[in-house]
Amino acid sequence: MSSAGAVAHPNIALAKYWGKQPVAGNYPAVPSLSLTLAGLSTRTRVTFDAALDADVLELGGRVVSAAEAARAVALLDRVRAASGERRRARVVTDNDFPTASGLASSASGFAALAVAAVRAAGLDWDAARSSDLARSASASAARSLFGGWVELPAPPAREGTFLPAAPLAPPAHMDVAMLVCVTTEAEKAVGSTEGMQRTSASSPFHAAWLELAPRVFADLRAAVLARDVERVGTLAEKSAFAMHAAALAAGVSYLRDATWAGIARVRELRARGRAAWATMDAGPHVKVLVSTADADAVAAAMREVPGVLRVLVARPGPGATLSEEVR
Ligand code: PMV
Repeated sequence: MSSAGAVAHPNIALAKYWGKQPVAGNYPAVPSLSLTLAGLSTRTRVTFDAALDADVLELGGRVVSAAEAARAVALLDRVRAASGERRRARVVTDNDFPTASGLASSASGFAALAVAAVRAAGLDWDAARSSDLARSASASAARSLFGGWVELPAPPAREGTFLPAAPLAPPAHMDVAMLVCVTTEAEKAVGSTEGMQRTSASSPFHAAWLELAPRVFADLRAAVLARDVERVGTLAEKSAFAMHAAALAAGVSYLRDATWAGIARVRELRARGRAAWATMDAGPHVKVLVSTADADAVAAAMREVPGVLRVLVARPGPGATLSEEVR
């Protein structure tokens, strides 16, 4: 048997990825920029074992169906093709936060899987190669290979184009935190891939999104490099609302009553001088970018929002790493 363990953390996009290029291989249509979070983790162990006749994926103590495991199996197939490893794998993975509800579990999940699978297969790849591998399963996962502020460009691609994310600035670059306001423990109804497909197929605002997103990304990137928290927050809200507006116009709605109540609370807090900005992904949770100085006060106010179940305070965190402590 050959085995390796890895730990990865979710990331939250401030400039959102939404939409794929019309080529095989899972290439984003727009560039994105994210912050990797500390505290929340996915731990994954991959073991290639000659006794197995199929890959087995155990998520949170439960063996998942073949349909649910398909993207992980495709990633393992790529690792087998690159390494000559022929054995099937047992993948044991655990998250310490809700899965598949827009809390970026696919980001940390595929990042940890990529790092562990590459090592278990005996490959000695750098983070960029593992990031490209993770991207082929989930584009947001490419960003979790790196810590802190991370960008994933979206140059025109063909099947097989090498496209990893890249670190832009380390975790300590800006004095901010991300408040993850959990509004449900349930899984999301519409996965991000389906939501993107429906948006590109039928949203009247899809073209506007494709035109806007690269500009918001470029402005946000400059604001991050300038450590301009106010501008980073303002542009992050703009990106999130534009993404959700494009999806909504295709009938794809991830935002619930608790989400809107959370957004309203963030606006009130800002009107009272707090540095706080909201962003939402393919689920109903509200993530609030805050200055460290305002984190406790804003977290306390968000805990009072009807429908917010709990608030996790996450500092900027590190990239994915191998870990022998993962069992
Ligand atoms: O990479 P996926 O398939 O998990 O899609 C992620 C999409 C968003 O979370 C909504 C935006 C992003 O850039 O992370």
